[in-house]
Amino acid sequence: METVIVTGAAGGMGQAIVKTLVDSGLHVAGIDLAEQSSFSHPHFFYEQGNVLDEEQVQTFVDQLDEVRGVVNAIGIAQSATPVEEVSMDFWNKVMDVNVKSLFIMAKAVVPKMKQAQKGTILNIASISAVRPRPGLQAYIASKGAAESFSRALAIELAPFQIRVNTIHPGPADTQMLGQFAAEGANIEEAKQQIFVQSVPLGRLITPEDIANSVRFLLSDEASAITGATLHVDGGRGL
Ligand SMILES: NC(=O)c1ccc[n+]([C@@H]2O[C@H](COP(=O)([O-])OP(=O)(O)OC[C@H]3O[C@@H](n4cnc5c(N)ncnc54)[C@H](O)[C@@H]3O)[C@@H](O)[C@H]2O)c1
Repeated sequence: METVIVTGAAGGMGQAIVKTLVDSGLHVAGIDLAEQSSFSHPHFFYEQGNVLDEEQVQTFVDQLDEVRGVVNAIGIAQSATPVEEVSMDFWNKVMDVNVKSLFIMAKAVVPKMKQAQKGTILNIASISAVRPRPGLQAYIASKGAAESFSRALAIELAPFQIRVNTIHPGPADTQMLGQFAAEGANIEEAKQQIFVQSVPLGRLITPEDIANSVRFLLSDEASAITGATLHVDGGRGL
């Protein structure tokens, strides 16, 4: 049975991605730190786990027969902070969750994909990697690295018919969005005044917007697309 893995499966985008993929007939295996997922379905297998734990990830992947795709929707945010006030611990944590996790998952799934001579990896980065906001330097650096890592894998894995792409979401209506505001800021106000206004199409991105793009990039309709970055951002990157 071919399965798509979703990391960060209990998060705002992760849940929408899981539901969209299951609705389109795929089997999905989700992993997240959260104890449970609020979504359940006979074609959805959920495991509480830490994607930074290499052994745990390997065991999770080993129980799946064939991995058709991986969608990395894992991530942590940064509240807007001047660079000189960012601690080394925080910098390392952001790099671990937003970049190292992609490397750990790739190491675990690529052997299966090479054997099958097919597979797709999708890394959710952020439009902020190319259109930064002040005070988010650690987060933005991690998302730039996520995109570079995707492109590096795309060229390395193309001979095995494994495609690797990046999605750059714009400000998306999940609980993460409020975390980008400066500490103590009014989150609802920041959403409207900072984030909605920064999107030329005049609205926040929904988790479903991201999930629809994920479904397309995983499908055979996208079989010629690798090493690409799709901006799902309402024009925020313009
Ligand atoms: N929300 C936005 O505005 C926005 C914009 C651009 C990019 N993104 C990116 O989109 C992705 C999804 O974000 P979201 O808005 O759904 O955020 P979210 O906080 O709702 O979901 C992230 C999930 O990752 C999980 N996670 C964190 N560390 C983990 C670990 N070590 N192991 C397993 N799971 C772990 C969390 O438990 C959480 O459920 C992230 O990569 C985020 O950086 C979000």
